[in-house]
Amino acid sequence: MTDSAVLRRAVPGDAPATAEVWLRSFAAALPTVVRPRSDDEVRAYIREVLVPLRETWVAEDAEAGIIGMMVLDGETLSQLYLDPAWRGRGLGDRFVALAKERTPGGLALWAFQVNKPARRFYERHGFTAVEYTDGAGNEEREPDVRYVWRP
Ligand SMILES: CC(C)(COP(=O)(O)OP(=O)(O)OC[C@H]1O[C@@H](n2cnc3c(N)ncnc32)[C@H](O)[C@@H]1OP(=O)(O)O)[C@@H](O)C(=O)NCCC(=O)NCCS
Repeated sequence: MTDSAVLRRAVPGDAPATAEVWLRSFAAALPTVVRPRSDDEVRAYIREVLVPLRETWVAEDAEAGIIGMMVLDGETLSQLYLDPAWRGRGLGDRFVALAKERTPGGLALWAFQVNKPARRFYERHGFTAVEYTDGAGNEEREPDVRYVWRP
């Protein structure tokens, strides 16, 4: 389990390790999704935008370091990415519980339709699919689905 991991707000020094978690997580979970951004563009976005300017949370393990991330922006939950080795160990549950606690009025997020494990995960946590797109409106041009959770 991940009881030993700490969930806390990201600080600037976390950006490099957080970006590597994102990249590993995305590659493992979404091998068929074509990313329009290079690895270095992702690293820069996490370092220059997400960590300093958004409400970015990280999970940190005493031995492994940063093992997951999540961004909250009003009622929007995004960038929930766990290190592949730390999936299936209760960490996603802890991030979603934190998000619900911080945003008790409700949450919304987008998931790629192809991401069946994540969709089952959100549905287990009470999220409902409310809109399906053909991907024309996202950078990846990948069909996605909008989920909302209302308390
Ligand atoms: C989606 C995610 C945040 C869920 O957190 P979690 O702690 O792994 O949650 P769960 O243990 O409930 O697992 C969720 C699903 O992931 C899959 N999964 C769990 N552990 C896994 C592992 N070690 N390897 C591959 N898939 C795994 C399972 O399919 C599981 O759903 P299922 O039991 O209905 O099949 C996490 O799995 C993750 O980071 N995935 C990769 C990134 C991603 O897809 N993020 C969501 C973007 S919208």
